[in-house]
Amino acid sequence: MEERKWWKESVIYQIYPRSFADSNGDGIGDLNGITEHLPYLEKLGVDVLWLSPVYRSPNDDNGYDISDYRSIMTEFGSMEDFDRLLAEVHARGMKIVMDLVVNHTSDEHPWFIESRKSKDNPYRNYYIWKDPRDGHEPNNWRSCFSGSAWEYCEETGMYYLHLFSKKQPDLNWENPQVRREVYDLMTWWCEKGIDGFRMDVVNLFSKDQRFPDGITLPGEKYGDFSPYAVNGPRIHEFLQEMNREVLSKYDIMTVGEAGGVTTDEAKKYAAPDGSELNMVFHFEHTDGAAADQKVIGKWDHGKPRMPVIRRILNKWQLQLEGKAWGSLYWDNHDQPRAVSRFGNDTPNWRVLSAKMLATCLHMQKGTPYIYQGEELGMTNMPFSSLEDCRDIESINAYRQYVTEKKLISGEEMMECIRTIGRDNARTPMQWDSSENAGFTTGTPWIMVNPNYTEINAEAALADPDSVFYYYQKLIRLRHDHTIVVYGTFEPLLMESDSIYAYRRILDDHTLVVACNWTDQDQPCALFPEDDADSRTNPAKELISNYASHKAGILQPYEARAVLFHISKQSPDTWSCAGRDIRF
Ligand code: GLC
Ligand code: CA
Repeated sequence: MEERKWWKESVIYQIYPRSFADSNGDGIGDLNGITEHLPYLEKLGVDVLWLSPVYRSPNDDNGYDISDYRSIMTEFGSMEDFDRLLAEVHARGMKIVMDLVVNHTSDEHPWFIESRKSKDNPYRNYYIWKDPRDGHEPNNWRSCFSGSAWEYCEETGMYYLHLFSKKQPDLNWENPQVRREVYDLMTWWCEKGIDGFRMDVVNLFSKDQRFPDGITLPGEKYGDFSPYAVNGPRIHEFLQEMNREVLSKYDIMTVGEAGGVTTDEAKKYAAPDGSELNMVFHFEHTDGAAADQKVIGKWDHGKPRMPVIRRILNKWQLQLEGKAWGSLYWDNHDQPRAVSRFGNDTPNWRVLSAKMLATCLHMQKGTPYIYQGEELGMTNMPFSSLEDCRDIESINAYRQYVTEKKLISGEEMMECIRTIGRDNARTPMQWDSSENAGFTTGTPWIMVNPNYTEINAEAALADPDSVFYYYQKLIRLRHDHTIVVYGTFEPLLMESDSIYAYRRILDDHTLVVACNWTDQDQPCALFPEDDADSRTNPAKELISNYASHKAGILQPYEARAVLFHISKQSPDTWSCAGRDIRF
């Protein structure tokens, strides 16, 4: 068995502080709100809390634009509030992972305020400045949030690079002083006693210093920077240095957000020798599963097809085995709600399909991440107009596709936003059925989903069949069964269009997991013990979202995880209680 580590055996819960709980009635979630709700998280049983950024920020991108890495965002509270939160989390046996956003800072960070002043400012080289090319941008790179990735500065007649909004200038990682600053601030937080970092867009730090133009799509002015900035030339050198200088000195966990990472690259970022990070988030199942064509980027959506998702997730399971640790997620603050996207959020199927998705993911190998509200089966938001949206990505995309290019109508764009926009995940946490879902006594910074009267934590805690208790059980299974953490993964039923099945194997046990992704009965012969005599039947059902089963059938959105004790193992035939089982 591979090396045991606490972060392999943990379940992580992501908190988006702005939308979690408001303790002082200003409509914005805050640190004291999180502290107040720790008993809820303890009850759920998660091990680690990942906080989306809580640092000082002008909030152009909700805290992913930091103006002071060593202070707390005024709206979220004070450093004393943070210290109390950290102490209370530790007192309850949980841990805290901080978001580390160091590909870029805010343009209001003192480094940038200095940097833009003059070409000979000591901070000039902290950012990426280039001369105009023929009176225009230095190259054609498109920002992730629409438009050019370069912004002109009158002060010096030069452009600076911003892969995200123009209020998020990219740091110049080529400059050793910048790297030193980053290592120092990381050390500062580690000394405070935090337990790890989620590293924002970690694979964008290193840029091809030739800054070549990217390929443009027909009719597009701007090109794709990814061949020159994603998994760039010096990224592994930088992370190994960071590891030597900081990470290796503490018992912390690290996960890198790495859109565009391949399995081969992931084996370097998350190699078992521990020389870089512990694991990365890939985006293949969230980016690739839905869209076949990309005329309007990520906004071209469709219902993801299970076989496509299965192919992607299975590939990651198989290729990382023994070579790198993986992470498991459906949801985060940049994605729409999992049950709406991958499952079925209509009243008949919401709870069942949310549990099915949870089973499908949580029984796989890797460290699972739960995003706030996912454990309630929270759904996408019926945004009716752009005024209700807060996300800079959605707002800029609307401006670009509807207002400027007139590629689609406003109503079509709103449909895209309702389906795929990031604000779906950012509506307030639904605590109870009181006004504003118990999130705030004031006016929430973003609308509460109107379904809070039914979908909320109070109702979930009162219902033994809720999605909440199902997650609680899945988390407990991971803690109680080594096979869930360390068992190897093997795909099953790869030809099925409706059932996602696999098995995990450890020593003389096999855990068979099968999930029906449709709203119809589907034939499934994976569980022969259903017909067997229960006195001699050595199989044990660990979890299912149905109380009773139909022999040979998986009911709509049915999910099951059954543990078999096996006495003989050959490639496809195992024997269980004297009977052959074919998987
Ligand atoms: C990451 C964050 C996202 C943010 C972006 C820029 O993708 O998850 O929320 O907008 O980086 O920091
Ligand atoms: Ca508040």
